[in-house]
Amino acid sequence: MAKDKRELQKKKEDYMKSMLLDKFADVFGSNEGAKVYFAPGRVNLIGEHTDYNGGHVFPCALTVGTYAVARKRKDRELHFYSVNFEYLGVKMSSLDKLVYAKEAGWTNYPKGVIWALKGKGFEIENGMDILIYGNIPNGSGLSSSASLEVLTGFVCKDLFGLEVSLTELALIGQYSENHYNGVNCGIMDQFASAMGKKDNAILLDCSTLSYKHVPLNLGEYTLILANTCKKHALGASAYNKRREEVSEGLIRMNSILGTDKDNLCDFTEDDYLKAEASMEADKIRDRVKHVIYENQRVKKAVEVLESGDLFAFGEILREGHASLRDLYEVTGFELDTMFDVACQTEGCIGSRMTGGGFGGCTINIVKKSAVENFIETVGNAYKSKTGITPAFYVCDIGDGAREIKM
Ligand code: GLA
Repeated sequence: MAKDKRELQKKKEDYMKSMLLDKFADVFGSNEGAKVYFAPGRVNLIGEHTDYNGGHVFPCALTVGTYAVARKRKDRELHFYSVNFEYLGVKMSSLDKLVYAKEAGWTNYPKGVIWALKGKGFEIENGMDILIYGNIPNGSGLSSSASLEVLTGFVCKDLFGLEVSLTELALIGQYSENHYNGVNCGIMDQFASAMGKKDNAILLDCSTLSYKHVPLNLGEYTLILANTCKKHALGASAYNKRREEVSEGLIRMNSILGTDKDNLCDFTEDDYLKAEASMEADKIRDRVKHVIYENQRVKKAVEVLESGDLFAFGEILREGHASLRDLYEVTGFELDTMFDVACQTEGCIGSRMTGGGFGGCTINIVKKSAVENFIETVGNAYKSKTGITPAFYVCDIGDGAREIKM
C-alpha cells in the first residue's frame, strides 16, 4: 500500500516534470540546461502563533507546493513566468533592479529571496529564466508564499553552488518576507517547506531552531484538510497587530514577575497563573495566556502522539482551536463553523484551524472508514450555515524542498 502510494507520487512528479519542461521550452525557446525543483506547502498540526514568541510548533510539509523550472542566463536579467498567471506573460527584472515594486506582483517573492541572498553575501552573478507552477489551493493558508520563497532559495543554491544549509534558506525566506514583502511572519512556514519529511511532522523549537522529525502514525485515522474557501489575508493588519500585542504582553509579564525573558514562550503556565491577578483583564492578557498555554499544548500533543493516544491528541487540537477563537481571536465565523460541525460529526476525533487564521483551512483527524461521510456531512452543514461551498483534501505528508530528478 505504502509502496503503491510512493509509486503514484513518483509518477505524478515525473508527469509534472515533463509537462513543465515542455512549457518552459514553449516560453523560453528551449529547455536546454534547465532543471526542475519543488518546495512544498505546509500544514501545522498544533502550535499556532507561537513561532514568533520563541515557542514550539508542529507542522508537516505537504505533497502540494510550488514547482520551478530554472536555468542560468549569460546576462544579469531575471525572466519569470508563472503557469498560474499565464496572462501576465514573462515578467522581466534584473539583478541590478532588486527593489520591491507593486507592479512586479508575484515576482516580488522570488526577487525578495535573491535580494536577501545577495545581501547576505552569496554570489549570484548571472540572471535566470524561471518558470513557476503552484498547486496549493489559492488562499487556503497552506503557505504558498513560503514555498515559493524556499523554492527560489533552493534553485539559487543549486544553480550557483551556494554553500547554504536548508535551515539558512528557511531563514532567508522569512527575512525576505519580513523585509521585502512586508509581512512580519515567523519561521514556521519556511522551515516546514525546507525541512519536511515524508509521513513525519516536525517538532521545532523556534527559539533555537533545534528540531526533530516525529513519525505520524495515525493507524485507522487520517488527516483531512477542510478549506473554508474564505480567503485569509495574512498581510492584513490583524497579524502584525497580534505581534504588537504580544510584545506588550512580554513587557507586562517581565515587569510583574521581575524577570527579563526574551520570549513569551519562556514562561510556564505557573508563571502565567502567578502574574494573572496583577494583569489588567484585557485582550493583552488573553493573548499572553493563549501563547503560553499553546506552547505547552505542543509538547503535550507530541507526547501523547508518540505514546499512540490519538484521542488525547485530538482533544488537545480542539483545545487549541478554542483558545485561538476565544483568547487570540484569529478564527472568525467560517473557521468556527467548520470546527463546530466537524466536532459533531462521527469519526472525527480532533479538529482545529491551521495557520495564521481568519480563513483558510481546518485540519481534522478522521477515521479512514468515515471520511466520505465526514466530507458530505460537514460540507453540507457548512454550506447551509455560511453559504460557501467548502473543499476537502486528504492530507498527504511529503518531503521538503528538492530537485525533481527523473
Ligand atoms: C502564519 C505565519 C507563521 C505563523 C502562523 C501562525 O502562517 O506565516 O509564521 O506565525 O501564521 O502560527
